[in-house]
Amino acid sequence: MRIDVITIFPDYLNPLREALLGKAIERDRIAVGVHDLRDWTHDVHRAVDDSPYGGGPGMVMKPQVWGEALDAVCGTGEAPMPRLVVPTPAGRPFDQRTAIRWSAEPWLIFACGRYEGIDQRVIDDAATRMPVEEVSIGDYVLVGGEVAALVMIEAVARLLPGVLGNPLSAEQDSFSDGLLEGPCYTRPEVWRGHAVPDVLRSGNHAAIDRWRRDQALARTYRRRPDLLAALPEGDLDKADRAQ
Ligand code: ADE
Repeated sequence: MRIDVITIFPDYLNPLREALLGKAIERDRIAVGVHDLRDWTHDVHRAVDDSPYGGGPGMVMKPQVWGEALDAVCGTGEAPMPRLVVPTPAGRPFDQRTAIRWSAEPWLIFACGRYEGIDQRVIDDAATRMPVEEVSIGDYVLVGGEVAALVMIEAVARLLPGVLGNPLSAEQDSFSDGLLEGPCYTRPEVWRGHAVPDVLRSGNHAAIDRWRRDQALARTYRRRPDLLAALPEGDLDKADRAQ
């Protein structure tokens, strides 16, 4: 997969080169390009923003600069185009389903806005040439799209073949069965007086699976009842319902 990011703070994306993602880049599972939006300005101040039409606080990112940047990074429509992701608190919610869907794409590009946002015509114009999604990572407001892009890129990249050491980790994620994952434990058996639950040391794998499922159900009920309510009826077995 190829991932491009356009931002006025390229260094904000440096964590992409670390740890799991860094290894995926080294191993050619992902190719990442980070581009400085100011490279497409033409004035001495390298301005990327201007005051909003209609008045109000803050600044809006200029369409000309973004238009040229997107043309340069994506091309203008002849060759295959990427899926353009615009992180914004006004977007549709990003979730694991979105991450799974995007993990099948050959090319994603993230347009990171700052200030009050990007002139809407940039997004509308891009949408005439490529799929575009305005996406939020949660109901809070960050100072720009960079951290949101990092979050989404990490969620997508760990789903790609050969990126996670153990592919079962992604299959057993929280959300993969619509539930939160329950607690996990490692050695020692007793730590500061707290013991690991007996069943996990029993060697009885059917009992362990049942216990894990019950823990996941109980945790989801307490913390995210909205997820339980959204589960399709057929996803709960008889023992689940007894919980
Ligand atoms: N930019 C600012 N806040 C954001 C959010 N919650 N999600 C995505 N992009 C953002």
